[in-house]
Amino acid sequence: MRLLGVSGSLRRASHNRQLLRAAGMLLPPGVELVEFDGLKTIPPFDEDDEAAPGTSVQAWRRAIEGADAILFATPEYNSSIPGQLKNAIDWASRPAAHPALRNKPVAVIGASTGMFGAVWSQAELRKALAAAGARVVDRELPVASADEAFDEHGQLKDRDLMLELSGILAELLDNAELRLAA
Ligand SMILES: Cc1cc2nc3c(=O)[nH]c(=O)nc-3n(C[C@H](O)[C@H](O)[C@H](O)COP(=O)(O)O)c2cc1C
Repeated sequence: MRLLGVSGSLRRASHNRQLLRAAGMLLPPGVELVEFDGLKTIPPFDEDDEAAPGTSVQAWRRAIEGADAILFATPEYNSSIPGQLKNAIDWASRPAAHPALRNKPVAVIGASTGMFGAVWSQAELRKALAAAGARVVDRELPVASADEAFDEHGQLKDRDLMLELSGILAELLDNAELRLAA
């Protein structure tokens, strides 16, 4: 089983990248987490380019199509989704006849340095993913005060958050198995 990890933050030392890695440590044997690293190279969505999208968009769509499920970890920028992530979702919601995200099992988690753990951004991302046709796990993981949330092994310090993350992963993998069986 192949899980694609997508961080909505581009920066190297991102807490959301860290959160994806923490999720990777909780996966059962036989499931691999592969991080998508090309978000920054995806150009602004332009309907005029839809007929012949560039290589970065093709790579993004291929990464989605090759994954059994996708785990998004998003920060919150001004109470919303980072622009580069929304832009990538827009590309993956097209072409309308066969969008890459259609029926794809996805889940959303998120970390912010503030008190609320990117909950608004997670809610908006779930909404956009559902609009693009993905099968979205209806749960969230609000990791607040992200600069203090991880231990020296890169795992979440808060046991309840870790249990919730395990639950989200289990539901996501169940959805992926159901889809494979269908
Ligand atoms: C442009 C910008 C806007 C931000 N807006 C919010 C916000 O609305 N809510 C919040 O909790 N944190 C906000 N933050 C702080 C982020 O939570 C913090 O920078 C976080 O570490 C970003 O995630 P990352 O570590 O994965 O890059 C903002 C940060 C930036 C750079």
